Amino acid sequence: MASCPQDSLWNKCLPALKKFKSALLDFFLAPPPELKKAFEKQEMYTNSDTSRIDEHLLFNNQDEEKLKEEELQNDKNYWWNYEGAPYAETPVFEEIDNQKVTEELCLKIERGEFPVIEIPSNVMRTMQILNNQEFDYAEVASLINHSPGMAGEFIRVINSSVYSRGVVINDIKLALPRLGRENIKALLYMYSAKISFLNDPLFNQVAVDIVEHSYSVGIIAAYLSQRYYPDPDGAFLAGLLHDIGKLGILKALSQLYDLPKHVDFKVTEEVFDNIFPGLHEKAGKYLANHWKVNEDIVSAIEHHHDFMNIGFSEDDQLAFHLSCIVNLSDNMARILGSGRRIGPVNIFSLPSTIDLSIEKTEDTICFLDDIPKIIAYKQGEMKGAPGNKTSPKTSAPQKKI
Ligand SMILES: [Fe+2]
Ligand SMILES: [Fe+2]
Repeated sequence: MASCPQDSLWNKCLPALKKFKSALLDFFLAPPPELKKAFEKQEMYTNSDTSRIDEHLLFNNQDEEKLKEEELQNDKNYWWNYEGAPYAETPVFEEIDNQKVTEELCLKIERGEFPVIEIPSNVMRTMQILNNQEFDYAEVASLINHSPGMAGEFIRVINSSVYSRGVVINDIKLALPRLGRENIKALLYMYSAKISFLNDPLFNQVAVDIVEHSYSVGIIAAYLSQRYYPDPDGAFLAGLLHDIGKLGILKALSQLYDLPKHVDFKVTEEVFDNIFPGLHEKAGKYLANHWKVNEDIVSAIEHHHDFMNIGFSEDDQLAFHLSCIVNLSDNMARILGSGRRIGPVNIFSLPSTIDLSIEKTEDTICFLDDIPKIIAYKQGEMKGAPGNKTSPKTSAPQKKI
């Protein structure tokens, strides 16, 4: 029997009409989603007392989770979210043209004519021993002990909580093996750079400040490496040497340019804000190569500010991460008052933090909370550290040996 055309149209429309009818019924008769949830809960409650308790616990846990989440969002209570140091007008040396000096020093680096920081003869002797494959820590220790200033620098760094592991060390012989050969050498370079400014009234204080900042960066870098980089000693070394180029530039300025012996303003790093950026990385690479420092460390010295624009290859990922660790540690040290002025910054927004895949979790926050304490290796330093908003935890009493 032939089918009627109206019948076939009806058959085609029927499923759509049924769907429309069901949607209409749902819309007018079904409870709203919140009510539906409540009915479902009510049903669960009446099923058994146990489920009621479970639900209650679930709500409490959800509240707790929500509170934690809000707390994490509320960064302003943490030291690593810094509102920025107050801006101050910085003086300049009228005797020199910053742009011209930068170009001239750049050319000297390219031509291999940049002045190197001299290593005093006693430090050089220690270096030579360290260069022997089978050196003796006791011999190195006795040479370092001949110079109380040098011994003091070693003891101070070794007693930072990263290396001391809760034990106060006053004996260089015990301190040295913990540092290892490369770090001892780096500390000797830093010491040499520092004392080379002792008789320079113009640059001595700024050189000391740069060295102090470098210690802080090295120590923070070693600490961060417990989680975010496989070689804490390498990180310490890179952090320690990252701004060595600034000391090289100061040395070059004092040797090559006619500057006054005294000025009526405080010579801080900010005075060199038109010379250091861009140039100190190149000068640092030059000095580190001269001292035969390993290439990942040299790369971190060269790229601790521009690592994001370099395009490190697959094979160079360790070097890339080392630059990130140094950059992050540098920012942290500056927030905590060690190093040049820093503007408003939240550590979790930094490219280095993102590239290291550091996520803001409760666990990470606990880990970061210890950093103000670990760089407070000088007694009383932490009390005055700007930006340190978290309440300092009382550290475990240290044993003396
Ligand atoms: Fe730097
Ligand atoms: Fe720095």
